[in-house]
Amino acid sequence: MRIQSLQNRSPFLLKLTILIVLIIFFMQYTSMSLSQNKINASENIFENQSITRQANNIARSRYKSDETKNTTNQSKIDVTKTASVNEPKIIDYKEVSTNQSDVSGRKYTSYIKTYNNFEKEQSLCLSNSKTKQLSKKRNCPNSGIVTVREGGRLGNQIWEYISVWLVAEETSMEPYVPSCIKSRLSTLFDNLNLPVIRDIYHCAIKETSKNQNIILPMYIVKPELLAHRINDIKQVFSIKQTLLVQSQKKLHEGVKYLNSTFHTFVGVHARRTDYIVYLKRKYNIVPQVTNFFESAMSYFENKYPKTIFIFISDNPNWCFGEFGAKKNVYVTGRGTKHSPELDVAIMASCNHSIIDYGTFGQWGALLAGGETVYYEISPKYPSDLLGKHLSNWHTIKLS
Ligand SMILES: *[C@@H]1O[C@H](CO)[C@@H](O)[C@H](O)[C@H]1NC(C)=O
Ligand SMILES: *[C@@H]1O[C@H](CO)[C@@H](O)[C@H](O)[C@H]1NC(C)=O
Ligand SMILES: *[C@@H]1O[C@H](CO)[C@@H](O)[C@H](O)[C@H]1NC(C)=O
Ligand SMILES: *[C@@H]1O[C@H](CO)[C@@H](O)[C@H](O)[C@H]1NC(C)=O
Ligand SMILES: *[C@@H]1O[C@H](CO)[C@@H](O)[C@H](O)[C@H]1NC(C)=O
Ligand SMILES: *[C@@H]1O[C@H](CO)[C@@H](O)[C@H](O)[C@H]1NC(C)=O
Ligand SMILES: *[C@@H]1O[C@H](CO)[C@@H](O)[C@H](O)[C@H]1NC(C)=O
Repeated sequence: MRIQSLQNRSPFLLKLTILIVLIIFFMQYTSMSLSQNKINASENIFENQSITRQANNIARSRYKSDETKNTTNQSKIDVTKTASVNEPKIIDYKEVSTNQSDVSGRKYTSYIKTYNNFEKEQSLCLSNSKTKQLSKKRNCPNSGIVTVREGGRLGNQIWEYISVWLVAEETSMEPYVPSCIKSRLSTLFDNLNLPVIRDIYHCAIKETSKNQNIILPMYIVKPELLAHRINDIKQVFSIKQTLLVQSQKKLHEGVKYLNSTFHTFVGVHARRTDYIVYLKRKYNIVPQVTNFFESAMSYFENKYPKTIFIFISDNPNWCFGEFGAKKNVYVTGRGTKHSPELDVAIMASCNHSIIDYGTFGQWGALLAGGETVYYEISPKYPSDLLGKHLSNWHTIKLS
């Protein structure tokens, strides 16, 4: 009897099992395809769309967008592509964790549990960020973090670093820079305080409204935000002592060369090479740099007797050809090429600045802190925006 009844029941059990398996399979399939769709639609990266929307609104309202440059480099999964250019895209790390050459969206389905899972920061870096000594385990972030993609050379990377800090301050989120940027800037500055992402590798990413993350695009500049925090620059960036010592030597080389008794040093940054093409393409201008430098130098000569001009350039020979005959011009880096770090330090050691264009000159002048005369490019150009907000920055009428 017992055996009979079992035999009778077993087809039922089998059917039930098959049904359950089918239901589970169906549910899995549905939820998989749902999450696939969500992730494809780049607005809806988080599981709970309601939370996502709320958090985006909070973060956006905290974030006063003053982005002015269309600096997006068109990498395939550039986070700014789906957002408006002027607005940082608010995303979580699933997006950067994927293979950057892949836009299919398929890889997003593998869920990421800790910051460690997104390719060891390297997805934000162009250069190699393997510098172990920088990392220090930290408490996990309470809210979302602000970080940035690495792009460009020294001047760009200083902007990228400070932009993380500025946006974090603005949004009350926590700033973390990729190690590649921090180690790049460590050749110029001492005691860079921002933590690196690998400090929080052990932390889980919790997808809550408090855990929105912002990844700023490469080449970002934040002139207006910076202008409001200009007094903090010296604290964020302190130039290495060895570079400062070398810079003083260079300045005195100039003094000696000119047989001068100096009073005032004006650092002049002349950006040549690639930038001229960029300005033509981007702003459709062909700058009259020689005219500009002449005008700016006369301005300082009139204001401070015994001014000497220290030229810093990616093409020192051009500078020497144009201005080398003047009694108060010393062109640095003509014999042996300086490192970019030393060039920034020399500019920063001068009392005032003349800059034509480019992020490098902007930082030389910002770190010098004195009066800055810049070439007027366009109301939206970073130097012009700094000029609009900083009382010691101004442009000059060309003679
Ligand atoms: C999503 O978040 C909202 C707001 O916190 C909450 O009211 C809602 O129940 C959540 N929905 C799901 C499916 O978890
Ligand atoms: C920004 O650059 C992209 C790619 O070059 C271009 O498609 C877009 O129109 C530009 N946007 C603005 C506001 O200039
Ligand atoms: C953007 O990146 C691509 C590929 O990495 C490169 O070829 C291109 O020159 C870059 N564009 C700019 C404006 O830097
Ligand atoms: C990205 O995908 C390409 C093509 O599938 C592959 O060759 C490459 O190694 C992948 N890169 C990374 C970092 O996974
Ligand atoms: C999501 O991505 C997959 C893989 O590329 C694609 O087949 C599918 O059509 C996409 N779905 C949506 C809604 O874009
Ligand atoms: C500085 O003085 C030396 C020696 O008197 C002279 O040879 C040199 O030309 C002077 N340099 C300049 C820039 O006047
Ligand atoms: C001008 O710069 C020189 C060289 O760095 C420095 O020794 C001097 O103190 C500065 N002068 C003023 C007024 O800041």
